[in-house]
Amino acid sequence: MTAPIRDAFPVLARAGFHYLDSAAMAQLPSAVVEAVAHHDLSARANVHRGLHELARRADDAYDGARQRVARFLSAEADEVVFTGGCTLALNIAALALGEKLGPGDRVVVSAAEHHSNLLPWLMLSQRKGFEVVSLPVDGDGRLRLDDLSLIDGRCRVVAVTHASNVTGAVTDIPRLAEAAHAVGAKLVVDGAQMVPHGPVDPRALGADLYAFAGHKAYGPTGIGVLWGRRELLAELPPVLWGGGMVGVVGPTDAEPLDPPERFEAGTPPVAQAVGLGVALEWMCGLDWPSVHAAEKELTRRLLAGLAGLDGVRVVGPPDLEARLPVVSFVVAGCHPHDLSHLLGERGVAVRGGAHCARPLMVALGLEEGCVRASLAPYTNRADVQALLDGLAHAIRVLR
Ligand code: ALA
Repeated sequence: MTAPIRDAFPVLARAGFHYLDSAAMAQLPSAVVEAVAHHDLSARANVHRGLHELARRADDAYDGARQRVARFLSAEADEVVFTGGCTLALNIAALALGEKLGPGDRVVVSAAEHHSNLLPWLMLSQRKGFEVVSLPVDGDGRLRLDDLSLIDGRCRVVAVTHASNVTGAVTDIPRLAEAAHAVGAKLVVDGAQMVPHGPVDPRALGADLYAFAGHKAYGPTGIGVLWGRRELLAELPPVLWGGGMVGVVGPTDAEPLDPPERFEAGTPPVAQAVGLGVALEWMCGLDWPSVHAAEKELTRRLLAGLAGLDGVRVVGPPDLEARLPVVSFVVAGCHPHDLSHLLGERGVAVRGGAHCARPLMVALGLEEGCVRASLAPYTNRADVQALLDGLAHAIRVLR
């Protein structure tokens, strides 16, 4: 972590404050806060509907934000759908791809999914009659890709996370893309945790649809992105109907617009999109090889420190191979909520619980959940040391 990165986040200057909950919500650089305020004070209007001065400014700002997101994804602007968040993006993906599925069809998810890339498929399967099966994980929470026989001729969709929000394990997306495409299935990727750690190229990875959230990527809340291959988006039906997404409307029917508007019914989150565009542009300006090296070094320190504490078990890969700086752990005899509470009292922000990933908790034998420390480019050694010291203290108190 270099000082200029941290300096962009004024909230981190608070004395005694150690923010290790970025996987739940990243902090905002000043530039994003300022861009959103500037937009709301000088260009606040609905988009693609008005011809007045503020409407023209809002159109430019919104369309410009889409261009910025596209650049971050090495994509075209018309492949970028703005949504209200990653959960909505993943629900749109499931509803649109699942529309034509029925009995005899199969959707393959994984045991490491966040509920938002699992429950939309499970709920839809109850209505449509297709089956949902899960790729298993190994003892470290990594997807087991040695046997991909579940991805067979019945499989229509593979929906997996790019990186686990619990273990930080990174999925081999190209491998799954090859398996999915070999049987004619589409690949949906939940990029919520991966995107905050650098620009991604979903097309090059082999994804067909790729979703992520603004608030984890140094952007505002209430904004997410669904990227899709242009040719696929053009085939998919809208799943939400309303203003801004239809062309001809007759007494009993309507003709949806082309993507991306087809998937953006209603007034979109305009200021939030503007903020996200600035956040991703800020990310594009970082020296990612240096950031990754710094994140790795902090993760190594954290893993080594945890290994030195009595009764601590790291949940997830114990090494630095293909993993994000997201480290979860349990402590024998201490409930994760008690640990999170005591750490919070010392100014160390972590998350404790099941992390909206119940199937993974069951697979890893963690009925009470776990504690998660999640790092970002602004994390420094003092944050990691505060966690280790706070944890040693919490263990003394709780035992
Ligand atoms: N999905 C977010 C997390 O993992 C909220 O904490």
